[in-house]
Amino acid sequence: MYKSIAIDGPAGAGKSTIAKRLSEKIGFNYLDTGAMYRSYTYYFLANNIDINDEELINSKLDDINLSIEDNKFYLDGKDISKEIRSEQVTKNVSLVSSYRRVREKLVEMQRKIAKQSNIILDGRDIGSHVLKDASIKFFLTASAEERARRRLQDSKETNQDFEAVLADIKRRDDFDSTREITPLKQADDAILIDSTDLSEDGVIDLMKQYLEQNHVI
Ligand code: CDP
Repeated sequence: MYKSIAIDGPAGAGKSTIAKRLSEKIGFNYLDTGAMYRSYTYYFLANNIDINDEELINSKLDDINLSIEDNKFYLDGKDISKEIRSEQVTKNVSLVSSYRRVREKLVEMQRKIAKQSNIILDGRDIGSHVLKDASIKFFLTASAEERARRRLQDSKETNQDFEAVLADIKRRDDFDSTREITPLKQADDAILIDSTDLSEDGVIDLMKQYLEQNHVI
């Protein structure tokens, strides 16, 4: 049986960076589930499909040919890993992620991938829904201000200001935690890590300690 690690938490908590670095350190694979929702969102925007129309979205799902290799995301074989980080995708991804059929399709893919190796998955609903029996679950958070500050620091788009990024983070937190289907929520058995005052290395060391204590590694 392969081991799986779930890392959930709100936007900008550092999940992807931490998950990626931790996976390299402990020799696990890594799947960024947010990037899967971003890839679908990119597909709809690029093909001028109205993302407000859930029925239309449902009817297009079988046309999407998403593949993942080495943490890179491809649509019909074209690498879209950069495009899915755009401000436009970020603005629209929570709406697309709130649709039931979209979630069912991507969760099925996530579970299939998780079965194939030792792996870390990061997202919003991994511990609470996708991998309920994960070997260990973390809920990684930080204050909204700190998350906005980090997001701004990482952003390659130069025309963003702090208040706008903070507002988008708060809007997405709200949307993700109040949506009807598998909202963002800490699983009962998840370990809470507040990274507001922790460095990346600090978070990784702490997680490693928990992994050792719980015999995951
Ligand atoms: O990296 P960032 O925190 O900006 O977000 P992300 O992990 O790339 O996820 C983008 C969006 O996808 C989130 O705001 C959620 O709306 C959605 N998402 C989700 O619904 N379920 C997941 N397992 C992962 C992401």
